[in-house]
Amino acid sequence: MTRLLLVGPPGAGKGTQAAILAETFGVPAISTGDIFRSNVANETLLGLQVKAIMEAGEYVPDALTNEIVADRLSQADARVGFLLDGYPRTIDQVNELDRILATDNTALDVVVLLEADTDVVVARLLKRANEQGRADDTEEVIRNRMDVYAEQTSPLIDVYDKRHLVVRVDGLGAVADVTARIVDALAARGLASA
Ligand code: AP5
Repeated sequence: MTRLLLVGPPGAGKGTQAAILAETFGVPAISTGDIFRSNVANETLLGLQVKAIMEAGEYVPDALTNEIVADRLSQADARVGFLLDGYPRTIDQVNELDRILATDNTALDVVVLLEADTDVVVARLLKRANEQGRADDTEEVIRNRMDVYAEQTSPLIDVYDKRHLVVRVDGLGAVADVTARIVDALAARGLASA
């Protein structure tokens, strides 16, 4: 069983690494951003509720986000473990994840903090804006996403640091090099790939 969190600022490479690590460790990658985006694309009730919030680079309310994650973690494939990408992002979400895991008598193994310079991540997101046209990849919204991350999510690092769960990984360089750093850091914590 492997239960991991990937944390880091917008553009740090969480989604990219989550997809690779999910294969490597044989667990589902669960991205709240992807869940919300797919609901927006399909114009579901949830999608209609979150569209404007996401386009502004703000956070979806905790109650809504927590409900979605609780439901997703209750599905059969998450019994073998999971890799959460982009959740929790607020203290309230940390508390909810604690509650969910306590119900199952489980706990997190490691929190991977992907670190990357602001200039680099902004350049990555502007490049993606050109390639994919993601609605929240405009320069103004990227700046707001960075601010929201700094205000609401970076304090979570302290919370998990106090639990001795955080490993810091340099998110700069080639994707494969970043993956190798994460795999090495997890191995040092006793987490072997599948
Ligand atoms: P989310 O989708 O999680 O967006 P984010 O955190 O802003 O992250 P990104 O997807 O932009 O970046 P990433 O770190 O995943 O990097 P990626 O691998 O994509 O959330 C979107 C929104 O949903 C939020 O703003 C909020 O509204 C809502 N939301 C989601 N979760 C929520 C929650 N828990 N609570 C409340 N609201 C929530 O890479 C970025 C780019 O860089 C890509 O083009 C990629 O190809 C490229 N790249 C990646 N790695 C490298 C590398 N090593 N070298 C060069 N390029 C690279």
